[in-house]
Amino acid sequence: MLRTIYPGSFDPVTYGHLDIIERSCKIADELIVGVLNNNAKMPLFSVEERVKMLNEVTCHLPNVVIEPFDGLLVDFARQRKADCIIRGLRAITDFEYELQMAQTNHKLGAEIETVFLTTNIEYSYLSSTTVKEIAAFGGDITQFVPEAVRRELNEKMKTKRRV
Ligand code: PNS
Repeated sequence: MLRTIYPGSFDPVTYGHLDIIERSCKIADELIVGVLNNNAKMPLFSVEERVKMLNEVTCHLPNVVIEPFDGLLVDFARQRKADCIIRGLRAITDFEYELQMAQTNHKLGAEIETVFLTTNIEYSYLSSTTVKEIAAFGGDITQFVPEAVRRELNEKMKTKRRV
């Protein structure tokens, strides 16, 4: 039984994340999508909102569970008895940060491996930050995020414009 964790901020989940989730859950018996609950990162969406959107867009995947976490990722992985951490690599620019994170996690918990999946080339340019910027300026984000996320993001931007 292979239990894996795919951690991230998912602020909000994009088609790039969803591609990694769908491919990971073919490899793993159980995939836990760990949603970082860290207000220091000043997320646009609360952790509850991010978990809700992830639940909606992964409801067709029976071996995926969505869970918020705070604190160290290796502690969460140990607590959930996960064998490995999955991360997506989009481009060489991701590599330095991902390598540093994987090596730090290895120092903190050598029993938990980090496995990288290269992002589908179709989504290699895509990030939550870019999607939020396009939405903030009223651009069309249909090709970047699932419908449920598009709705939530557009609503959030409307609320922000009102304040
Ligand atoms: O989607 P992101 O923001 O690139 O995900 C980053 C995440 C959540 C994987 C990373 O910030 C994380 O693991 N945070 C938990 C704190 C931790 O364990 N830090 C030590 C490893 S660098």
